[in-house]
Amino acid sequence: MKFLTSVALLATAAVAAPSDKLFNLKTSGASNSTHNDLYLTVGRGVVPDPLNSEAVFSGVAANRAATFYFANSTIYWNAHSSAPYALDLINVDGVRKERAQISVDPTHGSKGFSITPEGVKGPSETWEGWLWCPVDAEAGQFFPNLHFLNKNVQEPAVPAGCDKINLQAVPRS
Ligand SMILES: *[C@@H]1O[C@H](CO)[C@@H](O)[C@H](O)[C@H]1NC(C)=O
Ligand SMILES: *[C@@H]1O[C@H](CO)[C@@H](O)[C@H](O)[C@H]1NC(C)=O
Repeated sequence: MKFLTSVALLATAAVAAPSDKLFNLKTSGASNSTHNDLYLTVGRGVVPDPLNSEAVFSGVAANRAATFYFANSTIYWNAHSSAPYALDLINVDGVRKERAQISVDPTHGSKGFSITPEGVKGPSETWEGWLWCPVDAEAGQFFPNLHFLNKNVQEPAVPAGCDKINLQAVPRS
């Protein structure tokens, strides 16, 4: 009897733990190959920093990339704190190139993501593809940032300086 109870508890714990489902987000499919195989991380620099919520390509190696998990159509950042931070798409009316950030407000984040063989896709009402966009120091972006195309604004197809990318969810290194 005792033996059976332990086994059942173990099985429940294994399903609940997100650690076996952690992934990194890595770029692919860019027309400029220097924008491929870049890992997403969080913060303003190469050290992950939950107080600075930029989603950046700072050139870190796979083993220092941010790790994420997927639940309830939201992409959560596994931030090594008890608070769940999540990927947030910032919608600004009438702007084609919009920002992706990691929500500063724990538990909040965008819904409507899916993970497909072509990579992570955003909410179908607004999202029309991911963008690698260059450093924009005036906007406080000191590394290339993750942006996305708003499908409700038609022009320009790809904003100047940005490159269309896919974001692949690859098992954590
Ligand atoms: C490719 O991207 C790099 C880094 O962003 C840039 O320096 C280079 O000019 C780009 N090449 C082309 C052909 O656009
Ligand atoms: C997903 O939603 C369920 C039901 O609302 C909730 O119990 C669970 O905590 C959510 N998962 C995450 C990771 O937020």
